[in-house]
Amino acid sequence: GCLAPGFIDTHVHYPQLDVMGSPASGLLPWLENYTFPLERRFADEDIAQECADFFIGQLLHHGVTTALCFATSHPNSVDAIMRAAQAQRMRLIAGKVLQDRHSPAGLQDANAEQSLQQTEALIQRWHGRDRLGYAITPRFAATSSGQQLHGAGELAAQYPDTWIQSHVAENTEEVQWVQSLFPEARSYLDVYQQAGLLRHKAIYAHCIYLDERDRRQMAETLASAAACPTSNLFLGSGFFDPQAALAAGMGWALASDVGGGTSLSPFQTMLGGFFVQQQSRCPQQDRLTPQAWWWHHTAGAAQVLGLQGMCGNLAP
Ligand code: GUN
Ligand code: ZN
Repeated sequence: GCLAPGFIDTHVHYPQLDVMGSPASGLLPWLENYTFPLERRFADEDIAQECADFFIGQLLHHGVTTALCFATSHPNSVDAIMRAAQAQRMRLIAGKVLQDRHSPAGLQDANAEQSLQQTEALIQRWHGRDRLGYAITPRFAATSSGQQLHGAGELAAQYPDTWIQSHVAENTEEVQWVQSLFPEARSYLDVYQQAGLLRHKAIYAHCIYLDERDRRQMAETLASAAACPTSNLFLGSGFFDPQAALAAGMGWALASDVGGGTSLSPFQTMLGGFFVQQQSRCPQQDRLTPQAWWWHHTAGAAQVLGLQGMCGNLAP
């Protein structure tokens, strides 16, 4: 037998279970051809509730007791996952996805103002109830207007106790696209900094194509990275660099990123990280031990979420 704290998944999309394993040449075609069409279906309350209930059961089946989770842009999709988590006494942090441009009809927000009002109403409905928390959730800089990003940053300042979650620097084509949309920004990460979206309890998925200034910026603002090895391998995105994160003092933790990731199992995620490291040029003495991979999926993950002492560790 083995007694261990529940695992913490720091970045996962509950509506994407059914696109898991859908092959694409990279992130952007994968979003357009599989993920956006699937997420549109979550406008339907019954579909959202059925998928939310099934998803929470799957997390628990895999030993995951805490998760930071994307819903879809439909406010009812947040209600569905919060209800499902509450029924199982899960610690779940989730948010309505903000995406007011470059998205298909049925998924794109009507406008920035309404999407921010919906976000605030959901914060008031769910944040701090039982073990539930709210995460302000701009999908990524390419699908949000500057107005929506800045509005999200204002909400994050107004509700400093909430989480923030998004994606950054996952794929080279995505990075180029964001640079062309925000030519005044020094880097992709800088778009979020300018909008007031870097702070403690802000978790950015992937963080592959960051430079040293970006990593220092993450460390100074206390924002953290969610490393998603199975997703990066599956979509051919590139590789997160744990040693560079450590050197910069930037916090990071492990995540499945399902449906980009290929399994909800923390053992698959840790194994993916290990496979990547085996192929890297990192000197042997600097490599993560099995214990360190485990820490970044439990106690270390609790720390980046600001939940140390609440979960991720059996220590008194
Ligand atoms: N970037 C923007 N949206 C997504 C998503 O749903 N999954 C992943 N992996 N990256 C994204
Ligand atoms: Zn993701």
